[in-house]
Formats: sequence, structure tokens, C-alpha cells
Amino acid sequence: MPLIALLPGDGIGPEVVAEARRVLEALALGVTFETAPVGGAAYLVAGNSLPPETLALAKRADAVLFGAVGDPQFDALERRLRPEAAILGLRRELGLFANLRPSSLTPGLEDVSPLKPEIARGIDLLIVRELTGDVYFGEKGRRTGLGGVREGWDSMRYDEVEVERIARVGFETARRRRKKLCSVDKANVLETSQLWRDVVNEVSGDYDDVDLTHMYVDNAAMQLVRDPAQFDVIVTGNLFGDILSDQASMCAGSIGMLPSASLSSWRSSLGLYEPIHGSAPDIAGQGIANPCGTILSAAMLLDHSLDMAGAARRIEAAVAKAIADGARTADIGGTLSTSAMGDAILAAL
Ligand code: IPM
Ligand code: MG
Repeated sequence: MPLIALLPGDGIGPEVVAEARRVLEALALGVTFETAPVGGAAYLVAGNSLPPETLALAKRADAVLFGAVGDPQFDALERRLRPEAAILGLRRELGLFANLRPSSLTPGLEDVSPLKPEIARGIDLLIVRELTGDVYFGEKGRRTGLGGVREGWDSMRYDEVEVERIARVGFETARRRRKKLCSVDKANVLETSQLWRDVVNEVSGDYDDVDLTHMYVDNAAMQLVRDPAQFDVIVTGNLFGDILSDQASMCAGSIGMLPSASLSSWRSSLGLYEPIHGSAPDIAGQGIANPCGTILSAAMLLDHSLDMAGAARRIEAAVAKAIADGARTADIGGTLSTSAMGDAILAAL
């Protein structure tokens, strides 16, 4: 029986993961669940944001459904003890280098997007974000420079093996969509980006059927609001992908709607699935968070990790139907609670 590890984490994480679990249970797929603490919630009980038992469960499970980590109460902790260290540690320890962040407008949410409806309607893109390298995992530190001036530094680096494997994920996913791949970098300034661009160009020789373009990240940020419909698949590094995926999600209506998958290879079964919204401490505990991003992450989990594409499509259809029928949490212009939104999706199922 497949095992799903539930790591609800902090803030609104537990509230939204509970709704996704209800949806998975309603489908009666014969999966089992085990829950473990992560992030600030784990630090409070175990003094470690990623306790060894939690990591062991994640490794043993067939897939991980993750809520969110982060809470301002831990901002003063050493970086390695902070809640965020847990998700970074899971990505690194599980080798989850490929992060898929789809962004499309759910029909009915045209007026929720801060973009004009006619522009928002065209969004249907997938960001393939590299997840275990870049300035996130490079050397970093503090030092005191001349005259006692304090300095903080982080190093950005990629090697060609890391770029090639994420580029291939970009090409493979583009091949299965509209066959357009846009590689985003800052090659006009950064040496890391020039290597990135060179390697992506080399890999493109194996994908003649995919139309490859390159774009500087500042231009990409602008194009995402000017004309998001031009994008099919975007492949980019860890930091640029972090920023652009929040932006793309909001263009599509609400950051609360969007799921993600973090995979250890193209088509690997091991994966971690999480909504991209984060812990949202300002609304935690109020029961008003949008569970759709997590529920749609559960659909991605069934698809990629458990080979249950039929059940995944059923979840996606149920979310779309609930939204079309007018079910709305506050972030998308309604008044439903988290669990009432879950009820609406269960009813549509
Ligand atoms: C995300 C988040 C994380 C990241 C944080 C919580 C470390 O913003 O998944 O996008 O920066 O990758
Ligand atoms: Mg982010």
C-alpha cells in the first residue's frame, strides 16, 4: 500500500494539508498516511526543524505532501535552525532538483487576477525551477571588512551537470506541452548565467522539436505582467525561479491556488508536493486559507509519484467545478472558510 508522508509544518500548513488529506481519503485509493512535524513546529518539540525521524519518514514514503514552513518568531535563530532550513534540507537530502510550478488561470477567476481579465485569461505556463543549487546552496557567510564594516556574502554557482539535468527537464516538459521553452538568466551580467545559457544551447541539439528562446530575468518579470500568454515552459535557476513563480502565481489570480512538485529526476517517482504560498503567519489559525494549492499539489502527487493519473484528473476537475460554481475563499474574493472550501471540492468530486 503506497505511503504518503504528511508534513504540515507551520502557519496555515496544517489547515490546508488537512483538506488535501480529506480529498485523498474520499477517493479511497488505498493509500496510507503518516504525519511528522517539520519547520518551526518541529523546532518547538525537537529543537531541530528537520528531525531525523521526519527525514527518515520522507525517505521511506512513496511521496511527501508538504504544507509550509516559516514563522517570524524564529527569525532570530541561527540560519541552520530556522524553519526554512527544513525545506531546504529535504530538497537537498532527497535530491529534489527539479521543481515544477504550473501557473494557469482557473476559469471564473479572471476578475481576481490583478491583471486585466483579457491578459490574465491567457496564462498557461509552467516554471521549471532548479531547486538544489545556485546562491541558495553556495558558500555564504559574514565578515568584517575594512574599517570594521560588516559584510554578508552568498555565492552563486552552477556546474554544467546541474544545468544540463534541469535543462533536460525543461525540454522534456515543453515537448509534452506547446513545445516552447524559454530559458531565463542574467547572462549579460553573471558568469553563472553565461554557463547556464551555453549549456542550455548545447542540450537543445537533442530537442529539435522544441522552440528555445532565452530571456534576461528582468525582462521576464516585465513580460510576465505585459503578456504572460507568450510563455509555455520557463526553465530557470533557483533564485530567479523563486521570484518569478510567486509573480506568475499572482498573475493567475491568487498564490493560494497553485501547486508544485519537486522531483529527483525527470519522471522519477520520488517527489515532494507543496503549495507555493508559504506559511502566511498573518492568517494562520483563522481557518480562512485557500486549500486549493495543496489539494492540487495532492493531484500532482498522484500523477507523478503514484501513477494515478485518473484520480489526479478527478481532483483537478473537482477544484475547477467548485470554483466555477462560485466557491471562493477570501483570497479569491469570497467568504468560505478553509474547510467549507474543502467541502465544496468534496461535493464536486
Ligand atoms: C519557496 C519558498 C522557499 C524558497 C523558502 C520557504 C525557503 O519561498 O518554496 O518558494 O525560497 O525556496
Ligand atoms: Mg518562494
